[in-house]
Amino acid sequence: MLRPVALALFVATTTPSLNAATLTAQPAARTTAAAARSAARAVDPRRERFVDSVLARLTLEEKLGQLTQYRGQSSATGPQTPEAGAADIRAGRVGSFLGTFGAQVTRDMQRVAVEESRAKIPLLFAHDVIHGFRTIFPVSIGEAASWDPAAVERAARVAAAEAAAHGLHWTFAPMVDIARDPRWGRIVEGAGEDPYLGATMAAARVFGFQGTSLRDTLTILATAKHFVGYGAAEGGRDYNVAEIPPRTLREIYLPPFHAAANAGARSVMAAFNEIDGVPMHAHRDLIDGVLRSQWGWDGILVSDWTGVMELMPHGVAADSARAARLAIDAGVDVDMVSNFYMSHLSGEVRAGRVPIAVVDSAVRRVLRAKYELGLFEDPYRYSSVARERALTLAPPFVAEARELARRAIVLLKNDGNTLPLRKDLGSIAVIGPLADDARSALGSWSAAGRPEDAITPLAGIRQAAGTRTRILYARGASVDTADTSGFAEAVRLTREADAVVLVIGEHQDMSAESRNRASIDLPGVQLQLVQAVSAAARSGNKPVVAVLMNGRPLAVPWLADSIPAIVEAWYLGVQTGPALADVLFGDYNPGGKLPVSFPRTVGQVPVYYNHKNTGRPSNERERYTSKYIDVPWTPQWPFGHGLSYTTFGYGPVRPSATEIRPTDSITVTVEVTNTGSRDGDEVVQLYLRDDAASVTRPVRMLKGFRRVTLRAGERRSVSFTLRPQDLAFYDVRMRHVVEPGTFTVWVGGSSLGGQSARFRVAGSTTEIPDRGPLPPNWRP
Ligand code: BGC
Repeated sequence: MLRPVALALFVATTTPSLNAATLTAQPAARTTAAAARSAARAVDPRRERFVDSVLARLTLEEKLGQLTQYRGQSSATGPQTPEAGAADIRAGRVGSFLGTFGAQVTRDMQRVAVEESRAKIPLLFAHDVIHGFRTIFPVSIGEAASWDPAAVERAARVAAAEAAAHGLHWTFAPMVDIARDPRWGRIVEGAGEDPYLGATMAAARVFGFQGTSLRDTLTILATAKHFVGYGAAEGGRDYNVAEIPPRTLREIYLPPFHAAANAGARSVMAAFNEIDGVPMHAHRDLIDGVLRSQWGWDGILVSDWTGVMELMPHGVAADSARAARLAIDAGVDVDMVSNFYMSHLSGEVRAGRVPIAVVDSAVRRVLRAKYELGLFEDPYRYSSVARERALTLAPPFVAEARELARRAIVLLKNDGNTLPLRKDLGSIAVIGPLADDARSALGSWSAAGRPEDAITPLAGIRQAAGTRTRILYARGASVDTADTSGFAEAVRLTREADAVVLVIGEHQDMSAESRNRASIDLPGVQLQLVQAVSAAARSGNKPVVAVLMNGRPLAVPWLADSIPAIVEAWYLGVQTGPALADVLFGDYNPGGKLPVSFPRTVGQVPVYYNHKNTGRPSNERERYTSKYIDVPWTPQWPFGHGLSYTTFGYGPVRPSATEIRPTDSITVTVEVTNTGSRDGDEVVQLYLRDDAASVTRPVRMLKGFRRVTLRAGERRSVSFTLRPQDLAFYDVRMRHVVEPGTFTVWVGGSSLGGQSARFRVAGSTTEIPDRGPLPPNWRP
């Protein structure tokens, strides 16, 4: 595994232009979140003087150029918009590009900007570097399934180093949208359903991308997106309206953004959705009010693709000038590809409808970022052909990708210890449309990733099996057609083999932007394929393992009932095959846990663990309670679920006090024992419930977790500290308060069950400033 020190050393030794001493010193100088925050916020007088001096010499059109982002080589993810050329750069009509990368290309374009334009302001190059740049890691939902923020931070660090070496300064990640609806195609890009897990992943990624100093050419600007509520799209239909009550917005959807802002994210992207009639690109209360004023965040607010233009179809702007005005007034600094700021804001400013001070503030934020990246001193510092060559798919990066891929795998079911597979099997049949699909191994939003870099499940299993086990392969079916002509071959190989591994699910383009599904079943004829293979295997008493590849929870009730072992493998990136083989053959003991609940059927959606109790809590035995008549009300697999090849036992939960005051913290300790015979990882999860409060509270909420590795038989004491912030909620008057009364705390290996204890908060209701979900000194 590549530790930060190793990464720094590696980079230092392979990139002569970098200062080795600074790089190796970097991990030791890891700052706290608070320090990163104050560094980001601290007004650097030299920077401010410099930025003011640049601003003072810009014409209004050049200022608007800084706020204008054009698309480059990347394909459009929305309405086609014009590309900018050298003439636009020369004329100062563009401040940043989206989707253009490569050391030489960015160098050439930068040269036009700093040598041939009047204002000589360097360009920013941005791209969606979501789960790796060329060394592709697991998709974000899979990374979250590792419940290992430190590993996720390292992945973002690798992605930043590789992207930066290709001339990029800015990524549109992390995506921190909470998603409770698996129909939504973009659930793959986030950290799942929980605000606390989401907050830790958000902060970890920001720390990873941005490092400790943006002057370091291995770091890039991070963007927390999509602000806010995008994941709550009605019906799971991308871009749709989000109906989010104010308290839910505060407690569920905003916390990961708050954590990202506190971690110092230098940019935030507005979301496509509206909330209660106000599109986010015009939502002054949330952008200027909450993000900037309440949280004190001062980075670049970038629109989403044509987000400014979309204020017209949303129906809040009658014309394009009005759309531009609404967006800049709300606090959107950079117009991604609409080109409305450039076309309209000079007229709006001259007519007195937009104060020049508003434009200036936005331009300052862009110039500050360029200054902090060191681009005014050396506009080419990110565009190094030598570094690009040295870092692309560097072996330590690939090793890191394998490690995170293994950690992301979730063992959903393992009856009769079907897994791990014995290493002395004579032959294994690997069957299914995703077994050898390299493109799907990468997942969507895979930046510069290439299928030829990816090792498929089949290739990984072959490598691991070597000469000792024969690997037979049949595709069996395609993911999404009705063709069953491959079944016979699949069944034949099943009969021939000693064990079967089915690799099934969705192809990567089924979980992506705009790729929503009204059904979350296995697509195509895959279920029939599984049934045919499983019948053949059963008659020969052969073990069958189903490996799911998907970017969203799938409803697979038949598999859950009938297939003895099920592995959730998401899209694991370039090292999909080796990571999977490590788990299947037991060279790695899986420890991932679900970051999102898996429903039994789409009809249960939304199903999430931190739901309310209702006045008639679900109870299968009582008719008049909240449930269904045709399916249990519980999910197939709950949030936090994941098995291991060993077992874990939990001792009693011991709070440090039975009674505290509203302003006190409390420590909760539990002993966890590896009760099995193999070493393994457990994610120890702490959930909390305010038993009775002035507004209804979720049945439980995750407030802490730790992934621990325990040797067989080892016992470890694990402690969590709950702060007043963790006990607080928004009351009827939207005050963030701790109320007196009892709290129940559970510690266990999933969101169901666990050992519990109770403590009491005595005294009176006390207001606690909401400073975000993570402690100020939180680090992955
Ligand atoms: C997506 C963003 C992305 C942008 C640029 C949009 O369609 O919503 O998440 O950053 O495109 O690629």
